[in-house]
Amino acid sequence: MMDEELILLNPGPACTSKRVKDALLRGDLCHREPEFTELLFRIREALPRSLNLGGTHEALLVTGSGTAAMEMAVISSVRPDRGVIIVNNGVYGDRMIRIAKAHGIPFHEVRSEWTVPADPGAVEAALAEYPHVDAVVCVHHETTTGLINPVKEIGEVVAAHGALFVIDAISGTAIEDQDLSEVKADVVCGTANKGLHGQPGMSFILCSERSIERIQEVPERSLYLNAASYLKGQRKGDVPFTPAVQVCYALDEAIKEYEEAGGFAARTKLYRERAALVRGQFERLGLRILVDEQFRSNTVTMLHLPESVTYESLHDELKKRGYVIYAGQGQLSRDFFRICTMGEIPWHRLEQLEDALRESIEAARG
Ligand SMILES: Cc1ncc(COP(=O)(O)O)c(C=O)c1O
Repeated sequence: MMDEELILLNPGPACTSKRVKDALLRGDLCHREPEFTELLFRIREALPRSLNLGGTHEALLVTGSGTAAMEMAVISSVRPDRGVIIVNNGVYGDRMIRIAKAHGIPFHEVRSEWTVPADPGAVEAALAEYPHVDAVVCVHHETTTGLINPVKEIGEVVAAHGALFVIDAISGTAIEDQDLSEVKADVVCGTANKGLHGQPGMSFILCSERSIERIQEVPERSLYLNAASYLKGQRKGDVPFTPAVQVCYALDEAIKEYEEAGGFAARTKLYRERAALVRGQFERLGLRILVDEQFRSNTVTMLHLPESVTYESLHDELKKRGYVIYAGQGQLSRDFFRICTMGEIPWHRLEQLEDALRESIEAARG
C-alpha cells in the first residue's frame, strides 16, 4: 500500500498529531501527586474557555468514552420524583432513552425522522404536556446521519420553561459553527477524541451554575458516574477514581495545539473548508448525500452506496488506498456509508480522496 499513515474517515476516534501522540509518553504519574492536580486544573480551565464557555460553565472530567459523559449528564440532572424529555432523531437520541430506562428515570420522547432536524415547537408542546420534567436532552450533531439539530432555538424554549437543557455535543464541540455561548445549555457533553483531536479515553461535561446546583441535589444513582463526587474532588484538584493520566496529557497538548492554531474560529473554518472539498468530490463522482444541504454537519456525510457496491467491498478497497470509512448505523447500514473529515488530516490526503474513491468504487464493482 502507501507509505503514508492510514487516514481515519470515521467519526472518532480521529487521527491525532505527532505532538499529541508524543504527549502520551510524558511519563508515569500518580494521580494523587501535585503534578496531576496541576494538569487537571489546567484542563478544567481550558475546556470551557476553548469552547467559548469560559466564565459560565465548569468542567468535570471523567475517564470513559463519550457515553460516560452522556450517562453522567442525564442521571445527575434529574431529581428522583421527576422525569426528562428526550429529543430523538438518531442512534444517540436512542442511546439517551436507553440511559433513562437503565436508571428507571421517567422519560417522554420527542421523536422525528432521522433526516429531519428536531422541531423546537414539538419540544415546547412536550414541555407544556409534561411540565414537571427536570431536563430536556438533545443531541447537537446526530452522528448517525450527519444532521444538525437547532440547539439554540430549542435552548430558548427550554429556558422559558425552566428545565435544564442538556446537550450531547460529543461530535459537535470544536467542529460545528454554532457558538455554544449563544446556546442556553446547562450541560454540554464532550469528548477528547473528536473535534479537539485528543486521544480516546477521557470525556467531560461542562456545567452551568444552575446545573452545578442540581448535581448537588440529586442523590447518587451510580457510583462511578455520579457528577457530585467529581465536582467535589475536582474543585480540589482530585479525582474520585484512577484517571487515564496519559490521555489527560494528550488532551492537554491537543487543547494547546487547538488554541495556538486559532481556537474555535480557526478549527470550525477548517472543518467547513474540508466539508466543501470532499462534498465537491462526492458530487463529481455522482455520490448522493442523504441529508439536505441546510441541515448538514461540518464533518459527517452520509452517502448512498453506489449501485452494485457493498459497504464491505468499498471499505476494503479504500483501506488498501489508505482511508478508513464508516458504515451506516441501524436502519441505514445496508444502503449507506459515512465519510467523516474529523481529526488531524493533511489537506493533500483529502485532495487525493477523490481518486481513491473513484478507483475503489470501480474495483468494488469488480
Ligand atoms: C453524538 C454522539 N454522542 C455520543 C457518542 C458516544 O461516544 P462513545 O462511543 O465515545 O461512547 C458519539 C460517538 O460517536 C456521538 O457521535
